[in-house]
Amino acid sequence: MNKMEKKDYQIGDEIRTWSVCIPDNAGKEVEKTLKSTWINTGKKEKEFREKICNRFKAPYATATTSGTNALKIALKSIGVGSGDEVVSTPYTFMATNTSVLELGAKPVFADIQYDTLNIDPVSVAEKITSKTKAIICVHYAGNAVDLNELREVASAHNLPIIEDSAHAMATEYQGMPIGSTGDMACFSFQCVKIVTCGDGGVVTTTNKELHEKMQKISWYGINRDAKKLDILDPLPHSPDGLGLKANMNDIIATLACSAIDYLDTALEVRFKYGKIYREELGSLTKIKLMNYKEDRKPNYQIFPVHVENRKKFAEYMWSKGIQVNINNRRNDIYEMFGGLQKDLKNLEKADNDVILIPMHNDLNDNDVSRIVDTIKVYDSQ
Ligand SMILES: Cc1ncc(COP(=O)(O)O)c(C=O)c1O
Repeated sequence: MNKMEKKDYQIGDEIRTWSVCIPDNAGKEVEKTLKSTWINTGKKEKEFREKICNRFKAPYATATTSGTNALKIALKSIGVGSGDEVVSTPYTFMATNTSVLELGAKPVFADIQYDTLNIDPVSVAEKITSKTKAIICVHYAGNAVDLNELREVASAHNLPIIEDSAHAMATEYQGMPIGSTGDMACFSFQCVKIVTCGDGGVVTTTNKELHEKMQKISWYGINRDAKKLDILDPLPHSPDGLGLKANMNDIIATLACSAIDYLDTALEVRFKYGKIYREELGSLTKIKLMNYKEDRKPNYQIFPVHVENRKKFAEYMWSKGIQVNINNRRNDIYEMFGGLQKDLKNLEKADNDVILIPMHNDLNDNDVSRIVDTIKVYDSQ
């Protein structure tokens, strides 16, 4: 990509918080798919699912139209519906929790850990009731949740965990990629994710039965593979329950395949600049980094930091031509989730002081030195 060309999403010459990463060959690959005239879910979608399974050591994968639909499919596959509760994190993009609401169930918010922004397994244990049907966690900013501790809580109550892994493509926990272990992991390929196809998603699982259910739910409750060559009626007689229209088509799958093939190159940039940020900004006084625990490997999908006077910091950074942004608000500010909760103390602190500094694939060494130097000057004032 030519750094000099201004992107449509740039306002001026500022260093952006995020960018869109599309490999150069993606357009040509899409052209081939278009010319093949098969643009529905088909060969490319299968190839994409295989790529996901191979790259992330995931036994099974269902490709979807979005991360939100991946979450809904996962929730539906374990029967979450009206009257059920799902213990979830309030510090996330609202889709994590609107997907629960859309199925008629209620997200019940546990507190987060202030130093990782991830759901706190201790608080999860306190929120479980007889109505709880599942637990949702988010590997926030691509920094993995305390999965062992969370799994202990879940198995004590015989509950499945859905890992909202929208930020966590290629994140590792104790040497294993997110999505390779556990019940279900839902990924998003929305435009600013490391792997993007415009919009898309995938659910991985280690459970064959759940996988077969999710494959059906993604397409009206029908097993696509059971379609037969029948000139009059190629569909099986009856759907297996009410499904969604959430299958990934081959145009989108082609983009997704190109992005997965480019993933290691994309990750190199993030690993490089994530390391620089941690080395250069790790011992400041006004800016505090996340706690990146030793047994996990973050993908640096985004780079949140805690800053005491966030507005002042933002004004300063913007005045120096560096964009910083709030990524998510505590979800209980949205009326639909039942109103503000007073018992979520770490959430309250984080909601007041977390801000993103730039992390994306268009950054270069000069940008990153400028960001680091600018932050250091702010810290020293
Ligand atoms: C944590 C989280 N969950 C879910 C989603 C929803 O994904 P999608 O936009 O692909 O539906 C997002 C999107 O950014 C997200 O950040």
